[in-house]
Amino acid sequence: MINNFDEYKAIIDGYLLDHLENTGEFDRTLFEAMKYSIQSGGKRLRPVLLLSSCVFAGGSIEEALPYAAAMEYIHTYSLIHDDLPAMDDDDLRRGRPTNHIVYGDGMAVLAGDGLLSAAFEIMFKDMLLHAENGEELEKRVRAADAISDGAGIRGMVAGQSADLESESRDNRDYGSEDKNDSAEMLKYIHRHKTADMIIASIRAGLYIGGADKAMMRDMTLYAENLGLAFQIADDILDVVGTEEELGKSTGQDEKNNKLTYISLYGMEGSRKRLHELTENAVNAVSEYGRNAFFFRELVRKLENRTK
Ligand code: IPE
Ligand code: IPE
Ligand code: MG
Ligand code: MG
Ligand code: MG
Repeated sequence: MINNFDEYKAIIDGYLLDHLENTGEFDRTLFEAMKYSIQSGGKRLRPVLLLSSCVFAGGSIEEALPYAAAMEYIHTYSLIHDDLPAMDDDDLRRGRPTNHIVYGDGMAVLAGDGLLSAAFEIMFKDMLLHAENGEELEKRVRAADAISDGAGIRGMVAGQSADLESESRDNRDYGSEDKNDSAEMLKYIHRHKTADMIIASIRAGLYIGGADKAMMRDMTLYAENLGLAFQIADDILDVVGTEEELGKSTGQDEKNNKLTYISLYGMEGSRKRLHELTENAVNAVSEYGRNAFFFRELVRKLENRTK
């Protein structure tokens, strides 16, 4: 087991562009736009989680790579669309102007669509390579199924839709009934827009690696807690982070009147919850001892992330 995030990251970084070669003149801009957002240095958390979970379960990095790339394609598409003027209207992402600032709104929509389709293409091609071996095929179908659940209309897309609708509410109303209502909505938003993609990454990796039921259960609990913690940290950084480090503009949530952890529970309440979730994640995998060191260290590092 590699215990180093950057080693996994280097492997996925070296793989992502291989599948984004254009075929001629008329698709050049589309591919340029897709590569522009893929290239520009994200943290690669989701693919690293997928690869490391596969290895944790006893599989190899190589067999998980197409699914790890698929996750990063889907994640990057979600960011391109998230930044559009019709959504969060952001002009900085991963340290560079956002996709629509460079290529225009229409091409940015298509670059997102393209990356989403590329994700399913790369997974189906890999499944076909294993079509003759029922057991190997089933692992991959289960991984792709977990990814579609996390990304789709019961996952990230649904979360983004609730996030969008939260903008038109009064998110600072502390009247107790309203607060309960907002708390439910916030839970839904965080679970779906962010945690589901993280859960999908981990479960997909575990399926490919051949994890047993107990490992599936424990790592899913880890993923749920990590996923919620990750979005609380994102909400915190939107207030206290710096644009230089984050590579994206800050103060966006307040500007867009978003329902966030900060708007509902304040900074102190958010940090407290972030810490609880981090400890829950650590505890979920404590019985795996040294084998799960990577996962415990990762969630602890993410608690104090500045980018
Ligand atoms: C940003 O994700 C969107 C969220 C779900 C919080 P990341 O913080 O993982 O963004 P990149 O991939 O590093 O750019
Ligand atoms: C976005 O949440 C989550 C996605 C599914 C893209 P945010 O809107 O808070 O992400 P940032 O802060 O723009 O990266
Ligand atoms: Mg958003
Ligand atoms: Mg945003
Ligand atoms: Mg944010």
